[in-house]
Amino acid sequence: MADLRTRVAGLEMENPTMLASGILGQTGEMLLRIIKEGGAGAVVTKSIGLGPREGHGSPCLVELENGILNAMGLPNPGIEEFGDEMRIALSGGAPVVGSIFADSAENFALLAGKMERLGANALELNLSCPHADRFGLDVGSDPDKVADIVRSVKSTAKIPVFAKLSPMVPDIAGIAMAAEDAGCDAIVAVNTLRAMKIEVKVGKPVLRNRVGGLSGPAIKPVGVRAVFEIAGRCKIPVIGVGGISTGEDALEYMMAGAAAVQIGSGVRYRGTDAFAKVCGEMSNFMDANGYSKLSDVIGLARRV
Ligand SMILES: Cc1cc2nc3c(=O)[nH]c(=O)nc-3n(C[C@H](O)[C@H](O)[C@H](O)COP(=O)(O)O)c2cc1C
Repeated sequence: MADLRTRVAGLEMENPTMLASGILGQTGEMLLRIIKEGGAGAVVTKSIGLGPREGHGSPCLVELENGILNAMGLPNPGIEEFGDEMRIALSGGAPVVGSIFADSAENFALLAGKMERLGANALELNLSCPHADRFGLDVGSDPDKVADIVRSVKSTAKIPVFAKLSPMVPDIAGIAMAAEDAGCDAIVAVNTLRAMKIEVKVGKPVLRNRVGGLSGPAIKPVGVRAVFEIAGRCKIPVIGVGGISTGEDALEYMMAGAAAVQIGSGVRYRGTDAFAKVCGEMSNFMDANGYSKLSDVIGLARRV
């Protein structure tokens, strides 16, 4: 059996699959279930802000032929209300990554300190929500702003810091380099792509917010390309996310250079045990093809 245990940016994981932010990650019970029953090597919380936030109105999610379009708008209870959820999630024994969002370097640093005190094993800076204006691409598409945010969080954080980036910038590897130079410990790529669905029968956008973020199978080639570009320039690990729901999807990201992967929409397609299923399929594929450990596949497609 292929050995799937791994260590990524200081996190010890039983396997390289993680729950992506925003999918079932708002309660401790659900995060615990994803660890215990789902088989995830680590989980990422829903993105949490300084105060409570309602998010966009309904409809805020629609399933398309080859993906999911959402405009949740970062609804969350705020960091002060998230302590109990973190305590429950941390009892699962796998790393819990606290995802945070803010509109300035100062607020990111403040929030990072609070999330670290709640026990998070790492921080994921959401710099890439495509439908939350000042909390999303406004901060994540400018390499100087990204560097500023990472630097200010790193100046006090004692746990690893990940930057989650958007594929909707001309040079995602350039943004990743700015984060790495500022001291970032890993890059997470990618967040959803800004997209829209119109209901032709009524001639109106389906989402109340009109535009949302596209996830799922449709964005996998975009994510794989982004990981390939980032891994070609950065030394820090890259965590691949976007359209993964099978072991082969995960291996494709790893062959592009990802050290670990996150699964979001795939949970909707394959259930809360998507992680165990993906790992089983990865192992089977690796065994059948003579790969005994993850380092045999990571970056394989880069060597040609
Ligand atoms: C309903 C929904 C909510 C999401 N909320 C967040 C969030 O709060 N923070 C974040 O960084 N990403 C969020 N995402 C993006 C996912 O973490 C992930 O980057 C994206 O969906 C691509 O992965 P997937 O194709 O496996 O879903 C959300 C995605 C969906 C579908």
